[in-house]
Amino acid sequence: PVEVARPHAGHRPRPPAAPAAPTRSMARLRAERDRVHAAATAGGDARGQRAQGKLTARERLDLLLDDGSFLEVQPLRRSVVGNLKTPGPGPHTDGVVAGSGTVDGRRVFVYAQDFTILGGSLGAAHAAKIHRVMDLALATGSPIIGLNDSGGARIQEGVPALDGYGGIFRRQVAASGIVPQISVVLGPCAGGAAYSPALADFTFMVRDTARMYLTGPDVVRAVTGERVGHEELGGADVHGTQSGVATFVHDDEESCLDDVRYLLSLLPANNLERPPAAAPTGAGAQQRPRLAEIVPPEPNRPYDMRAVLAELVDDEDYLEVHQGWAANIVCALGRIDGEVVGVVGNQPMVLAGVLDAAAAQKAARFVRFCDSFGIPLLTLVDVPGFLPGTEQEHGGVIRHGAKLLYAYCEATVPRVQVIVRKAYGGAYIVMDSRSIGADLSLAWPTNEIAVMGADAAVDVLFGKELAAAPDPRAAREARLADYTTELLHPYYAPERGLVDDVIDPVWTRAAVAGALAMLRDKRGHAPQRKHGNVPL
Ligand code: HXC
Repeated sequence: PVEVARPHAGHRPRPPAAPAAPTRSMARLRAERDRVHAAATAGGDARGQRAQGKLTARERLDLLLDDGSFLEVQPLRRSVVGNLKTPGPGPHTDGVVAGSGTVDGRRVFVYAQDFTILGGSLGAAHAAKIHRVMDLALATGSPIIGLNDSGGARIQEGVPALDGYGGIFRRQVAASGIVPQISVVLGPCAGGAAYSPALADFTFMVRDTARMYLTGPDVVRAVTGERVGHEELGGADVHGTQSGVATFVHDDEESCLDDVRYLLSLLPANNLERPPAAAPTGAGAQQRPRLAEIVPPEPNRPYDMRAVLAELVDDEDYLEVHQGWAANIVCALGRIDGEVVGVVGNQPMVLAGVLDAAAAQKAARFVRFCDSFGIPLLTLVDVPGFLPGTEQEHGGVIRHGAKLLYAYCEATVPRVQVIVRKAYGGAYIVMDSRSIGADLSLAWPTNEIAVMGADAAVDVLFGKELAAAPDPRAAREARLADYTTELLHPYYAPERGLVDDVIDPVWTRAAVAGALAMLRDKRGHAPQRKHGNVPL
């Protein structure tokens, strides 16, 4: 610390000769300020919220942020002109509590819509406050978290309300890949408002109270005649299992906000920071004997890839994203030897681990997120191929599969592939093969990597020959044995340099830790272009 310099005594201001007669009372002004603030921040009548089992905006912020860390901006802001419904100025805060605080000591910016004031609807002042915290988040390189509980665009304000939403969306896109964006839906989030969670990196929803749809049940009935309830149309489970809009689904707000904190603990504050490392755990020297027991050596016997994941990460702790959607692929954030890593793994327990349109979309978005924020990727491969059939083809599995391919090809973070068992055809390539840029490919001795499995291959290659054989069955068995011996043995790919090594399964955690340490200082070079044309 430097010694504080003092002005020369002669320059110090002299006390006035006689105190000026008080014209205004500081005590009164302070008391008045306190009164205005207290009224402004009191919120509206919370009985409706309570009846629905919902917390208030400020209670939510208390749960999310470190104690006493919240610094509110513009609590006094209001709509200063009247409108169709409110003749004079509107209520203070304009239905949103905005500002900044810390989570585990790390800076975040946040806004919480207050349903007790004008239904949390978004008017021009409300939107301007959100714009303000988003601008500050971007300027300081800090995550932005939105707690949504709103009737949507404030109808009585007209087009300025829509303009306000547009400003949020534009800022979200500008901040994408620069600061993490988390959207938490804790009440209604209807109409275009739903695009804010859709643009965020992660979206949390709470069962029974959160709902998201472009048009509510009444409009659905009026337009299509279909009768559907709120929960069934846009509840947390619908978005967590079918649409893929919700990344995380929770039973209550407390556990939801707790997991927002956990997620933040795994993310860097911005794209220029390294992900937050914890203390090293000595993973590089640790054997995991259970790995050899979890995975059956027969290629088609199912097991839970999450059990493998738990053995690989520190303390068996990880945060799975989109747990209920496209469960045939597992995407999770965790740590290995203290360093944050994003893990993508086929899930043999669901649909035998095939890739389909939904799985490809889920993994592609996750890979792109990790790459944006410098989170290394670990890909655990055990995949029989893409799911065949008209439903998939007509649903655009080619387009969606291309997203995953694109995401991996573009990723410049450290990339480690572990081929646990089978890896066939296009699915082998897509699951971060060396050919699309994995930095290190390791395989277990159970690996089987080929264009296709033995049965299908023998049919294509020797169909005519087998049909003409005196004993087609015996001929087929012989050809199957040939194919398996020649092409499906675990050293076929390593001998050709397409796999860097065959490792002992029990040492996988150590091998991955070593690989990530080796690749820690990898630098990626983005090509000079405006942007690529990712297949959307
Ligand atoms: C103005 C609104 C409002 C809105 C609710 N309120 N939504 N005020 N604009 N959009 C007010 C209500 O008038 C009411 O005021 C108070 O908030 C509480 O609302 P309730 O209806 O009493 O609450 P509840 O029964 O819980 O129903 C909540 C609700 C319902 C399901 C959200 O209010 C509703 O359907 N609102 C309209 C939703 C909607 O269509 N929004 C526009 C979406 S389009 P009082 O004074 O009675 O207490 C959109 C475009 C965005 O958002 C475009 C971006 C590109």
